[in-house]
Amino acid sequence: MTTDAAGSAAAEPQAVLSPLTRAAIFLVAAVNPGSPNANAVRGLCGDLAGLVRAVGARAADDRLTCVAGLGAAAWDRLAGPPRPAGLHPFQEIQAGPRRAPATAGDLLFHIRAQRMDLCFELATQIMAWLRGSVTVVDEAHGFRYFDARDLIGFVDGTENPTGAAAATAAVIGAEDPAFAGGSYVIVQKYLHDLDAWNALPVADQEKIVGRTKLDDIELDDSVKPSYAHNALTTIVSGGQEVQILRYNMPFGSVGEGEYGTYFIGYARSPATTELMLRNMFIGRPEGNYDRLLDISRAVTGGLFFVPPVRLLESLASEVPDGWPDAAAPRQPPDSASPGRSGSLNIGSLRGASQDG
Ligand code: HEM
Repeated sequence: MTTDAAGSAAAEPQAVLSPLTRAAIFLVAAVNPGSPNANAVRGLCGDLAGLVRAVGARAADDRLTCVAGLGAAAWDRLAGPPRPAGLHPFQEIQAGPRRAPATAGDLLFHIRAQRMDLCFELATQIMAWLRGSVTVVDEAHGFRYFDARDLIGFVDGTENPTGAAAATAAVIGAEDPAFAGGSYVIVQKYLHDLDAWNALPVADQEKIVGRTKLDDIELDDSVKPSYAHNALTTIVSGGQEVQILRYNMPFGSVGEGEYGTYFIGYARSPATTELMLRNMFIGRPEGNYDRLLDISRAVTGGLFFVPPVRLLESLASEVPDGWPDAAAPRQPPDSASPGRSGSLNIGSLRGASQDG
């Protein structure tokens, strides 16, 4: 693995800090066994930025971005040691009937834009490159619901940090210099029992979330219960609030009665998000858990490292000597995929390194 670019304090993060959009696709994939498959993924890491540019330029105002993350096993396999300090498999939680499962997945692609067609096109192009080399284990298409509400009817994202505070919350700094500019991201797919939720009086819903429903105003401490979602997810350390950056999106399928929230939280340390999860599922103190979990169940869970831009790109060419998966990064398939068009034969795609 190359750490020269990332070792500098100025290492440019992927598009972790770009604002919430109207549309998103969350793709989680497992890398199939074998060196050619690992190398196909490495090759994509080198050219992802080119793909985003190619698709995004067709509607430049609509802010297409893609963040790629690697799980712990994938990092070991594709990049090799050292591992980013906080990278480990997602830690499952079981507390009474509440469960935060860990589910399969080596790669996360968080694709965002103001229009779903851009997200869909980029996801198609990514899969055109990776087809046969990865197995998609989860895919969710998220949409903006009115004024950025969840399907439970509450505005989601209000208390996100912005500006410098967002970078402080989400981007690794001097604490792990070789990986500065990177981030950790935790994702979980939640399904809601909306009949049960909608049967609750709005005043009870507001106590559960900790904000008013229509106006999205935080409840006063004198009336906010200690089990409120925004109480349990507030983390204070050394007198300072430690924040994360969330880009949750609703998704669903009316025919299947599926109404969900895709939780995605970026942090400079996964420990912050993990503590929030423990507070929600186990409770703070134990037993004082998040009542959102009485009507919402987590069905997936994953933790990924998001390398800064140049470190991600370097995976395409840096295959350690003697590494089990060492072999030439693979060229993308040129004609096989229905999604592959002339617009994709761009930039370094044509010149993908052949040495390994
Ligand atoms: C069922 C899934 C979830 C739903 C529907 C949900 C919804 C919400 C809503 C409506 C808010 C209030 C508005 C805002 O400030 O954004 C909120 C706040 C927040 N949520 Fe969630 N959330 C979910 C899961 C999670 C998870 C898994 C975490 C972290 C592990 C989390 C962390 C936070 C944080 C940090 C805040 C801001 C607290 C504050 O400072 O006021 N949420 N969430």
